[in-house]
Amino acid sequence: MRHCSALRSASLLLAAACSASLFWGQAAVTPSTVPAGVGPVLVLDKVTSEEPLPNGVRVHFAGAVMEVTALRPDVVRVRVGRDGQMPEDASWAVLPEARAAKAAVTRRSDDAAGFATTELNVAIHRRTGVLRITDKEGRLVEEDLRPLEFHGTEFRLTKRMGKEEHFFGLGDKPGPLDRRNQAFTLWNSDMFGWQESTDPIYKSIPFFLSMNEGRATGVLMDNTYRSSFDFGKELRDAVAFGAPDGPVDYYVWYGPEPKRVVETYAWLTGPSPLPPIWSLGYQQSRYSYMTEARVKEVAGRLRADRLPADGIWLDIDYQDRNRPFTVDTAAFPTFSQMIADLAKQQFHVVTITDLHIAKLPNQGYTPYDSGSAGDHFVKEPDGSVYTGRVWPGPSVFPDFTQDASRAWWGTLYKTFYDEGVAGFWNDMNEPAVFDVASKTMPDDVQHRIEGSGFRTRTADHLEMHNVYGMQNTRGTYEGLLALKPNERPFVLTRASYAGGQRYSATWTGDNSSTWNHLRQTTPQLENLGLSGFAMSGADVGGFAGTPQPELLTKWLEIAAFQPIDRDHTAKGTADQEPWVHGPEQEAIRRRFIEERYHLLPYLYTVAEEMSRTGLPIVRPLFLEFPHAAKDGHPIDLDAGSEFLFGPDILVAPAPYPDELDAYRVQLPPGAWYDYWTGDRVSTAAEVSSRDAEQPVGGDKEQVTSVQIKTAPTAPSSPSPQAKAVPASADPLMITPTVEHVPVYVRGGAILPIQSLVQSTEETPKGPLTLRVYVGQDCRGSVYLDDGTTFAYKRGEFLRMDSTCTVSGGAVHVNVGPHQGRFRPWWTELAVEVHGGPAVAAEARVDGRVSERTSGPGGSTVVTVPDTGKGFEIVLR
Ligand code: NOJ
Repeated sequence: MRHCSALRSASLLLAAACSASLFWGQAAVTPSTVPAGVGPVLVLDKVTSEEPLPNGVRVHFAGAVMEVTALRPDVVRVRVGRDGQMPEDASWAVLPEARAAKAAVTRRSDDAAGFATTELNVAIHRRTGVLRITDKEGRLVEEDLRPLEFHGTEFRLTKRMGKEEHFFGLGDKPGPLDRRNQAFTLWNSDMFGWQESTDPIYKSIPFFLSMNEGRATGVLMDNTYRSSFDFGKELRDAVAFGAPDGPVDYYVWYGPEPKRVVETYAWLTGPSPLPPIWSLGYQQSRYSYMTEARVKEVAGRLRADRLPADGIWLDIDYQDRNRPFTVDTAAFPTFSQMIADLAKQQFHVVTITDLHIAKLPNQGYTPYDSGSAGDHFVKEPDGSVYTGRVWPGPSVFPDFTQDASRAWWGTLYKTFYDEGVAGFWNDMNEPAVFDVASKTMPDDVQHRIEGSGFRTRTADHLEMHNVYGMQNTRGTYEGLLALKPNERPFVLTRASYAGGQRYSATWTGDNSSTWNHLRQTTPQLENLGLSGFAMSGADVGGFAGTPQPELLTKWLEIAAFQPIDRDHTAKGTADQEPWVHGPEQEAIRRRFIEERYHLLPYLYTVAEEMSRTGLPIVRPLFLEFPHAAKDGHPIDLDAGSEFLFGPDILVAPAPYPDELDAYRVQLPPGAWYDYWTGDRVSTAAEVSSRDAEQPVGGDKEQVTSVQIKTAPTAPSSPSPQAKAVPASADPLMITPTVEHVPVYVRGGAILPIQSLVQSTEETPKGPLTLRVYVGQDCRGSVYLDDGTTFAYKRGEFLRMDSTCTVSGGAVHVNVGPHQGRFRPWWTELAVEVHGGPAVAAEARVDGRVSERTSGPGGSTVVTVPDTGKGFEIVLR
């Protein structure tokens, strides 16, 4: 161990000299990436002693102690304390159960400190301090390229970067999907009109997932300060991350499958809760619908034009002079009646409730009066309440890191929630403050921490800034739960921190009405989904500016396949509802919104999976197909703007949506079907050769033994605007048109589809359709419950799992029995089999010959009463 007595302005070279040539296997000397910090340099480059822990090891360095423990065989936690003191074992992000988990370890017998689990080997080199984690095949999972360094309170971790390693996550940060060669700062920031290279923006999620030759690793650095991440930008061969202060406390875990990394992130920080089903419907918003009359007009038009919709959103102008938790009774004279009337039309109202409380002493403004009486506002260092200007003028700010203040905040929702407001929108919670240069609270504002497993203490804003928005949403979510314990709260936030998905959905803030911003939604929602925020969306049509007709249309088309589908725009822009720009555009837009509602049983099933596993709704292709490329690189890097909507639907908008040039859709290996027509996309020959390359389960020979139909057939209910326009004989060459988005279904998927409804409250008519797309690993589920309460946790749900196989020239579809007690709206199931015999000569249900009809895309449809016991269909 060396103490380099330096150096407020330690030059890179000097810092390097402090810790050079000490590395595992004599790695090349790499200059320090620690920015010049305050105070002495401390390099953890020599272990002085070590002691075993039940699930890991404690190693001592001169001036520091490090604990490396296994929470699970695949999850390692690293904590470092200065001067022999471990940092407080508390976290806003990581659940106490996860932090308390312990895996069995065995000691190493070589010259490194460390241990082994059943999945990983962990070694801390005694002479260099380098931490190295490998898997059981000896493949590198994570390795220090340099030992950990402190410069005063500031620290930096520098990890080896693979030549072909790619990085994902970090929440809502704009730019390409892959974070490689870029550097980022985590500091929640109100960024109106952010652009592709703007950093930071609203959220701080210090988690990344790396893909290295097809193997995935997760890293979460649980530090709330203004941290930074560099993926090979400053040093070509290093991933470096650190923070100016706060604990060194990070987690490294192994997949190797990327899905497992995402699931483990949810194990650490919690998944998003199951949302109320109405939040998955179409949402109409703007800043602002200024009067009650206008709100009713918009709602009426949505219904009159038969544009399915579930949500109407009220932005700040419904309030009296923008004061949170008030109503402008001149503009909204019968506010609660309006909510009730909208409910009769099956609309849910979401109101904005910003966190700043207007500073209005002695004026009968309850949020201010009760908050002051309870001492719930953050303070200046001198103990006076901090005041900053936001929408209502001078405002004060709740101290959300105190249990009591969050509980008080939650009570403010009572009147609105009782009146039937269905969801709440927590905006401006970075927090945004207008009258300071930093656009947020000064660094020295004092927060109090009380509860949440932390020691009771004060903390300055530098420590609390990045969790402030998250604790705001926690106060809202838990407050709503306290008010209506059997209702699923719906909260939308702009700012958050890792783990914030437990309390709220999110959106990408103030984007712009440009084609580039539409393009940006795909990587942004994918990275948010990987970072825990599976319930996310972008302002459809763009916030800043007015979209051209084609842009709004295309945006509405693509957003139909994204978790939150909310049209929203800024003040002063033109109207942006789907009917603007005339009936032709509206018809296209309607068609896509309708498709979202047809797909609702699928979307809700994916949302339920999300709530159990943390798997996102919008997924990059590599999440489902990590081995699609021979060299293991994520195939998304070659696949333009493609994304997966749940596990089975691939959406392939043009990579540059404003360009007219034809583009080629890249499909992962295996069979694919055109979603719109039901036709199988690839020829049988192509499919079988791909299948040979990429076995993904199921019986390849069985699949190819079926006569696959490749000639396109007209769907029974054709939708002209939804028809693909192939640019050539190659069905995957697409000429972009305004009215079409190519969408594909994985061969082997079974999609539940319902008849058209105008809202999630309307009961669909007719059977539930199970669209079976014959292929490998053929399976599908449908999940259903009452859509709004927690009764599902007490058995009031329905789950039905189906599979399909092909053997002896016959397609077998097995529809499983009902699990759970919830009674569905359907009494019949229409099983629509694509990719089987064109029109089956014979259909049998549980051995009995049954009627069959021909369906879209050359499918065969068999309709069966759903007794809940399950059945088998055989088509030959
Ligand atoms: C900023 C938000 O990002 C935006 O969506 C909202 O309309 C305005 N604040 C006004 O509340």
